[in-house]
Formats: sequence, C-alpha cells, structure tokens
Amino acid sequence: MDASADLSVRVPEPELMNEEQQVQAYAAADFSQSDHALVDWIAQRWPQGLGPRVIDLGCGPGNISLLLVQRWREVNVVGIDGAPRMLAVAAERQNDLEPQVSDRLNWEQGCLQNHALGRIYSGIVSNSLLHHLHDPQVLWNTLPQLGLADAAVVIHDLRRPEDERVLQELIDCHAADASPVLKRDYEASLRAAFTVAEVEIQLQQAGLEHLEVLEREDRYLTVAGVLRSSG
Ligand SMILES: C[S@@+](CC[C@H](N)C(=O)[O-])C[C@H]1O[C@@H](n2cnc3c(N)ncnc32)[C@H](O)[C@@H]1O
Repeated sequence: MDASADLSVRVPEPELMNEEQQVQAYAAADFSQSDHALVDWIAQRWPQGLGPRVIDLGCGPGNISLLLVQRWREVNVVGIDGAPRMLAVAAERQNDLEPQVSDRLNWEQGCLQNHALGRIYSGIVSNSLLHHLHDPQVLWNTLPQLGLADAAVVIHDLRRPEDERVLQELIDCHAADASPVLKRDYEASLRAAFTVAEVEIQLQQAGLEHLEVLEREDRYLTVAGVLRSSG
C-alpha cells in the first residue's frame, strides 16, 4: 500500500486554490445544500447570528460569507483568502446582491500565516479551510488574535475517513456526478482532512480545549463554541 492509500496518515494538499481550472471548477460546483445546512446549523445554535462583525477565513468564492450577510441584516462580514482568483469570483457574486446587503461584505486577500488582522470580531467562521493547512496551528493560533472575548467560533470541515472503503463510498455518494477536477479535489481533500481525535489534540495544544469538536453527518467535523477572554 503506498502512502497516499494509507488513511491513518493525512496527505496534505497545496494550501491555496488559485489555479484557474481549479477555481472555475470549485466556483461552478453546487455546494448550496451543504452551505445552507451549515448556516442553518449556525442559526439554530446562535439564532441572533454571530454578532456585528464576522470574519470568514479561507472564504474562497464567498459561499458562506454571502449567505451570512443575507441571513442576518445587521452583520458585517469580511472574507479573507490567499487566492486572488477565488476573491475575484466572490466579488462578481457580490454584484448580484442588493446594495444594502452588498455594503456589509468586504474581501481581503491574504494568507493567515502573515496577514495582520485586528482583534475586533464577534464571530469567526471557516468552511473547508482547515484541511488545506500544512500546519493546523496556524488556524487555531489565529482565533484569539481575531476574536473578542465571547466571540462565536464555527470551524467546519471534512473529516478523514477511517479507511479506503469508506473513502470510496463517500466519493460515490457525494461526488459521483462531479467534474473530474472536482472529483480529484474531493478525494485529495478527504485524504488531507483531520480526524476528530487529531483536532482535539490540536485544540489542547492551542489552549482552546473548551471548544467542542462535533462529528457531523457521514463526513464532517465542526469545532464550535465561544472564545474565552484569554483565548
Ligand atoms: C476548499 S476552499 C473553501 C472555500 C469556502 N470557504 C467555501 O466555503 O466554499 C479553501 C480556501 O482556503 C484558501 N486557503 C487555503 N490556505 C489558506 C491560507 N493559509 N490563508 C488564506 N486562505 C487559504 C484557499 O485558497 C481556498 O480558497
């Protein structure tokens, strides 16, 4: 068995998604069901939303940022991503919003590792970023730098399947009709994802063990909770 087929070890992907073909395939894919499900889940846990200022880390073409500003009328959202092509798609999509909604949405290009961000956010969300990071502590260390005390945190991602059989079942079930590029990316993402146990250790190392790690549906994990004043 070669290393890429051994699911006891993750196989990292390139961090940024800025290849033209990859961006187009991602932007064309219909993630609306899972994106809405995530925002519905946030709304169940925080019915009033995540406060006035939310940041969406690794926002890509804006899938979650766009839904957040449409769901909660008072929220201002900043989406940050290191890939300029992703942000170009996000900005195009923003043009379709009503001005009073669009005005509450901004994009910033930057990588988490070296982008200075203020500690001003009442909510921090991220969808499908964690598995891209070569060092997951980059994300966990960013949270206290961004979030005010009691800031709501929702970090959602795939979780790595336990073995090849489950991996193939997930691909057959959730990417059967996807384009070849997207199918390849989906498999790579599943192999690059973390397990719940790995994320729990990461949170302990970052002093964030008070955040919950929830195993959700057949393929997701969600880290949720609020930041304490010290982190
Ligand atoms: C799979 S996409 C998810 C996009 C979006 N969050 C969504 O819900 O569809 C992951 C995104 O994270 C971005 N990314 C990966 N590593 C990053 C980093 N270190 N800093 C900023 N963005 C990063 C990639 O460029 C890509 O756009």
